[in-house]
Amino acid sequence: MPIVSTKEIVDRAFADRYGVAAFNILDDLTIDAIIAAAEEERAPVIIQTSVKTVRAYGRNRLIDVFRAMAHDATIPVAVHLDHCPYREVITECLDAGWNSVLFDAHELDVADNLAQTVEVVAEAREHGAAVEGEIEGIEGKEDDIGSDEASKLQSLETAVDFIRKTGVDVFAPAIGNAHGQYKKAPNLDHQRVSDLVEATSVPMALHGGTGLSDEQFRDLIARGCAKVNISTAIKEAYMRSGLEHLKEAEEKNKWDPPTLFAFQRDAVVTTARHHIALFGGSGKAW
Ligand code: 13P
Repeated sequence: MPIVSTKEIVDRAFADRYGVAAFNILDDLTIDAIIAAAEEERAPVIIQTSVKTVRAYGRNRLIDVFRAMAHDATIPVAVHLDHCPYREVITECLDAGWNSVLFDAHELDVADNLAQTVEVVAEAREHGAAVEGEIEGIEGKEDDIGSDEASKLQSLETAVDFIRKTGVDVFAPAIGNAHGQYKKAPNLDHQRVSDLVEATSVPMALHGGTGLSDEQFRDLIARGCAKVNISTAIKEAYMRSGLEHLKEAEEKNKWDPPTLFAFQRDAVVTTARHHIALFGGSGKAW
């Protein structure tokens, strides 16, 4: 299966009202585990990279590893740049072959954000790539980007106007969701998703997926959240399984890196499969 455009993956999910899981990966092990999970579920999947991961792993190395692994995949897979306020990083990733980008200019005033997003959409189109837009910050930092303060909310009219004028392919509304583990059960504005979808017919991205209830996921996906982001749950599966294995290695004084990697991979696969199935993506590969 070749690498598929993010737009095709998300539009199909939107039309059928299931959610495509977009998992933030960290390295080759996590890319491999996420693709394996999607293959086991026969689901399309989005591999998502933060700016921090692009910088830490190296842009070219990351896209090369993605391509090598996606090339052998038997399900549709795309690579997406998550929250990126930096135009030069957007350009570099589009040039390198990313299938989509989230231009996160919520810190600009809406008129400036809109004008720049129009430019990013035009740039992405030259590469056959898609753009996700946002005008309100999602609470909580995602790999050092964003803020722990709730951001100013914009009116529905402002959001609809932004979506229509920019031509973004996906929109990320702030509905009370937050990155990282929730400190208390979030009270989400489900109606906002319905209102935006009804006015624009554009799919929504649900950020801050880690810690939402099954019911919240199901209802928001039914309303049009066709891309569902999961980062913290993947990081925790990766790190906690590593810790568990290393504690045992220390106890037994037995150090075998491949066994550690396999243990971590299994943990990431299990977490990813759980979310893919929950979002209704199982069996949706084409
Ligand atoms: P979580 O870290 O809460 O899963 O959120 C992921 C996300 O929205 C990435 O943009």
